[in-house]
Amino acid sequence: MTNIIAFESSADETSVAIVQDGHKVLSNSVATQINSHQRFGGIVPEVASRHHLEWITRVLDDALDQAQLTPADIDAVAVTYGPGLVGSLLVGLMGAKTFAMAHDLPLIGVNHLAGHIAAANFNQPIEYPALALMVSGGHTELVLMPKENQFEVLGETRDDAAGESFDKVGRLLHLDYPAGKAIDEMAQRGQPDFSFPTAMAHEDNYDFSFSGLKSAVINYVHHAEQKHEAINADDVATAFQNAVVTALLGRTKRALENYPVRSFILAGGVAANHQLRAALTDLLKQFPQTKFIPVPLAYTGDNAAMIGAAGYWNYKENRFADLTLNTEPGLDFERS
Ligand SMILES: Nc1ncnc2c1ncn2[C@@H]1O[C@H](COP(=O)(O)OP(=O)(O)OP(=O)(O)O)[C@@H](O)[C@H]1O
Ligand SMILES: [Mg+2]
Repeated sequence: MTNIIAFESSADETSVAIVQDGHKVLSNSVATQINSHQRFGGIVPEVASRHHLEWITRVLDDALDQAQLTPADIDAVAVTYGPGLVGSLLVGLMGAKTFAMAHDLPLIGVNHLAGHIAAANFNQPIEYPALALMVSGGHTELVLMPKENQFEVLGETRDDAAGESFDKVGRLLHLDYPAGKAIDEMAQRGQPDFSFPTAMAHEDNYDFSFSGLKSAVINYVHHAEQKHEAINADDVATAFQNAVVTALLGRTKRALENYPVRSFILAGGVAANHQLRAALTDLLKQFPQTKFIPVPLAYTGDNAAMIGAAGYWNYKENRFADLTLNTEPGLDFERS
């Protein structure tokens, strides 16, 4: 048995978790600072780093308490070193290095995006080759995994990320940041008699674009305001979400047709979206050789357990870091 303690602080969640053999979550302590950022409509980097500093030792103690373990039970320390906000990443990185040094444990650097994908292992074991749709606040990518811990980006967004577009439309509809969950709920009520365009529906690639959709929603709302007409926010949410899901589904279908894989993973904060999960469940019926493995709802947002899962992949390959490990705020997978 291998117990990995993992640190995550790339954005606005401070989290420490202990994961056994890459799939069994012994504890997952998460402190969120959403409330501090809501009035600014997004994450304020300086505020985020200060919160991480305040919380890091508390979530560390909590993770050990919840798992009822002591540092002597831990085999390695995993930490997110990118992508993310540099000041936020540094807090988790210093915490992890300090813990590793104090208890003479090996250190493992983890790509936050690999973490989002590895969280699928909390649902059921991933079989390879696998394809992952990674949809989060900062990323929208179709990632091919020929083998465990190997990542090739087939397509990505050319402008806004899917989650980012939810948050921007949310701001337009006067919703709190982040708005994904609220729009998801509103979209279940709306019955629009209009639709928004899905970008690049006919282009032969795996890339995404959401800025045109965002502009269409802005135009719709402003046009109504100019005419002093009330808009039905639920209808706007439904039409917007329909367009996002249609775009994600189209590229995913094309990738599944061209790359026969054994698992299809849905990961990242937007993976919590009900309509997206349902639409993909439906789509996967056309691909009986491919197992649909959505990340469990409890682990779609940022958390350290997912970093422990991806850290275990590196652990098995003896990919350890030393204490010179630095942050890489722009870290991404290679494009194939
Ligand atoms: N039910 C939902 N439907 C749609 N979007 C959602 C839902 N729940 C959360 N989101 C969106 O998920 C995003 C947050 O995801 P996540 O925490 O993975 O992003 P991040 O860590 O900020 O970015 P990245 O992982 O790319 O660095 C937000 O944009 C939020 O609005
Ligand atoms: Mg994330």
